[in-house]
Amino acid sequence: MPRPLARIRLTGHGMPCPYRGHKLDKLIIKGGNKLSGNVTVSGSKNAALPIFVATILAPGVHEISNVPFLADINTTIKLLESLGAHVEGNGNVVKIDTSGIATHEATYDLVKTMRASVLVLGPLLSRFGIARVSLPGGCAIGARPIDQHLKGLKALGAEIHLAHGYVEAKAKQLKGARINFDVATVGGTEHLMMTAATAKGETVLENAAREPEIVDLAAMLTLMGAKIEGAGTDTIRIMGVTELGPVSYRVMPDRIEAGTFMIASAITGGDIKIHGMQLEHLDALTFKLQDAGADVTNKDGVVRVKGPRRIRSVNIKTRPYPGFPTDIQAQFMALMCVADGASVITENIFENRFMHVSELMRFGADITVDGKSATVKGIKKLSGAPVMATDLRASASLIIAGLAADNVSELSRIYHLDRGYETIERKLAALGADIQRVKA
Ligand code: EPZ
Repeated sequence: MPRPLARIRLTGHGMPCPYRGHKLDKLIIKGGNKLSGNVTVSGSKNAALPIFVATILAPGVHEISNVPFLADINTTIKLLESLGAHVEGNGNVVKIDTSGIATHEATYDLVKTMRASVLVLGPLLSRFGIARVSLPGGCAIGARPIDQHLKGLKALGAEIHLAHGYVEAKAKQLKGARINFDVATVGGTEHLMMTAATAKGETVLENAAREPEIVDLAAMLTLMGAKIEGAGTDTIRIMGVTELGPVSYRVMPDRIEAGTFMIASAITGGDIKIHGMQLEHLDALTFKLQDAGADVTNKDGVVRVKGPRRIRSVNIKTRPYPGFPTDIQAQFMALMCVADGASVITENIFENRFMHVSELMRFGADITVDGKSATVKGIKKLSGAPVMATDLRASASLIIAGLAADNVSELSRIYHLDRGYETIERKLAALGADIQRVKA
């Protein structure tokens, strides 16, 4: 029987977790083990976050399952509770009752810890006719502007006012519009798809992002009663409806976590089976891993990844889906650090997503950055070192390097990691990695 979160031992993030994460925790990794065995991926962080926000659109009790235990999920729960929702966590199932939401303001202290919080602006606006949300600000990987979000809301008829670090939006009745994004933005597409769901008339989103997480959100909105066509393509049509209803929905598997395990197997010369993932969401990575010499097969929904004896160097360029995912660039760079020859890695999505380079160089990696491109000259062996995580996917990159390095590595500031990976050290240890979390 689910119990209100208040009585469940909390990690301080509002959600029961298998372990209590602490900002001074560290991971100790002894490299050299080949990964083997079975691992199951958790639910997708980047699908769950907008899905949680979409519950604002329909007062009532929503039941979301396959929810990963992550700090960002806990932050989203705290945000919904601050608006007046009641949330109960019971394992990986979260019940969200949004009928009690009465506040239309999301404060800076919550939005600053997780940028995706800004997605509540449109749903609060469509439900209350008014909303006030803190501007999210940038993060380690880039300025992360929301100009496309605001352009779209204005097109739907919102009056937008920026003051004191907040976005204030007003609209008596949102009306459908044609919106053409200057850039394929995942959050912008999700934000406007949600907001247009109850606008009057048809909205067309052109140059929309095509990520699978958008398709997952559209599936949940459709279950709620929304009329959406074209999610997963670059043109999405939303016919506004008068009201949406609460639903039960299962979050898709996390393709970035899955890709991280695929690379971990490749770099260790391992042989692992990944359960619960959808390989079709990772074509770009799969082809690049096969070019690097890994053997990737998919039988009855179980993906097997065997690492090569010698890793071939491969060039990658990150692109919006279905191109190579920017969220896997850092992890793939770690693999190229021990490849034969040189590889060029070009980051086309974010302007500062090479924070992992200096830390990888502490392992002895040979990397030269020139603007958006990093040239990685593969070396025989990385050597274990104390390193520091700077952002979520950089943390994963350093773990992957540590798994292949000789002797011991120590990774600090792993609170970045806890934002997006559910007990990754336990999953890797179960695959034979010598890795443990040392509590502060
Ligand atoms: C989502 O961020 C993901 N986060 C990111 O994952 C992911 O890296 C990113 O999409 C790209 O795939 C979540 O889904 C919670 P964008 P989002 O809007 O929506 C520019 C992780 O590690 N842009 O698609 O914020 C922007 O600066 C995280 O899990 C504008 O210029 O990304 C960037 O260069 C990191 N104006 C590009 O578009 C806007 O209004 C793509 O950003 C919006 C975006």
